[in-house]
Amino acid sequence: MTLKLVLEAEALAPFDLPDALHERYGGSFGVGRPRLVANFVSTIDGVVAIPNVPQSSQLIADGNDDDRFVMALLRAVADVIVIGSGTLHASPNSIWTSSRPYPVAQPSFAELRRRLKLSAEPDLAVATGSGDIDASHPALERGATVLTTDEGASKLRGKLPASCSISSTGPGPTVDMKRAVAFLHDSGRQRILTEAGPRIFGALVQAQLVDELFLTISPLLAGRTAGHRRPGLIDDVELLPEVRVRTRLLDLRHGATHTFFRYALDYEGRQPVG
Ligand SMILES: NC(=O)c1ccc[n+]([C@@H]2O[C@H](COP(=O)([O-])OP(=O)(O)OC[C@H]3O[C@@H](n4cnc5c(N)ncnc54)[C@H](OP(=O)(O)O)[C@@H]3O)[C@@H](O)[C@H]2O)c1
Repeated sequence: MTLKLVLEAEALAPFDLPDALHERYGGSFGVGRPRLVANFVSTIDGVVAIPNVPQSSQLIADGNDDDRFVMALLRAVADVIVIGSGTLHASPNSIWTSSRPYPVAQPSFAELRRRLKLSAEPDLAVATGSGDIDASHPALERGATVLTTDEGASKLRGKLPASCSISSTGPGPTVDMKRAVAFLHDSGRQRILTEAGPRIFGALVQAQLVDELFLTISPLLAGRTAGHRRPGLIDDVELLPEVRVRTRLLDLRHGATHTFFRYALDYEGRQPVG
């Protein structure tokens, strides 16, 4: 199956995609550098996470093949994937590699990374203010940068696998996202994909750090009650009425059942990303 291009509002500098990826995506694809892009899947009624349901994003995505392909494609062009401790906890068996969501295209993703002169796999960065993360998580066993606070760093020192490194953004209780992103840039990781949940995404948007949002709309309805939180894209951060963040549609594609939006985020007082 190929994604059907509905609207390409702005011409984006394309990568030299292997043919199989070009065909599967339904045309050309590129992401600038430096760039911080987020990827989410949401139900029609705006739910992105169902707390206490492990890997609820897979449930929300309805196991969709096109969504897994887009997730893998974004990973395949990233220097680093950023998640938060909430997402780490919700996915106890996950490792964030480029081909895992869509293994059938693994050779093409590997070829794309070679063409882009990227290492075999994107790095992983895990943000935790408290330092309360499971050191035996398989993603940490594989190796990750833990972005944390001074308090988190002292809690984690000596407890993480040797494959991990720790970077503190200063006093807590939460990670200073501007400093965290500056650290990633300074260490050569300039194309950043965030697959964090709505808390970190909210903090990144509040700090005007997210350049683009890839949003999959799944055809499911999730429902909500007053007593149980089922967050949308942003949690724990209020923007309106004080803060206006506008989205600008860059690209719209359709699969058999899911719709794929790509937005630029424009912030008041910040130069729009070209
Ligand atoms: N539908 C989708 O596409 C999608 C994508 C990603 C995740 N999810 C779902 O989202 C849920 C997790 O959501 P979440 O929002 O809790 O996850 P998250 O954003 O990945 O992690 C949030 C945690 O990060 C830590 N943190 C560190 N610095 C922070 C800062 N500056 N601002 C906010 N938090 C900071 C906090 O915990 P500590 O300080 O205690 O460590 C916080 O609770 C899971 O169910 C996951 O499956 C869905």
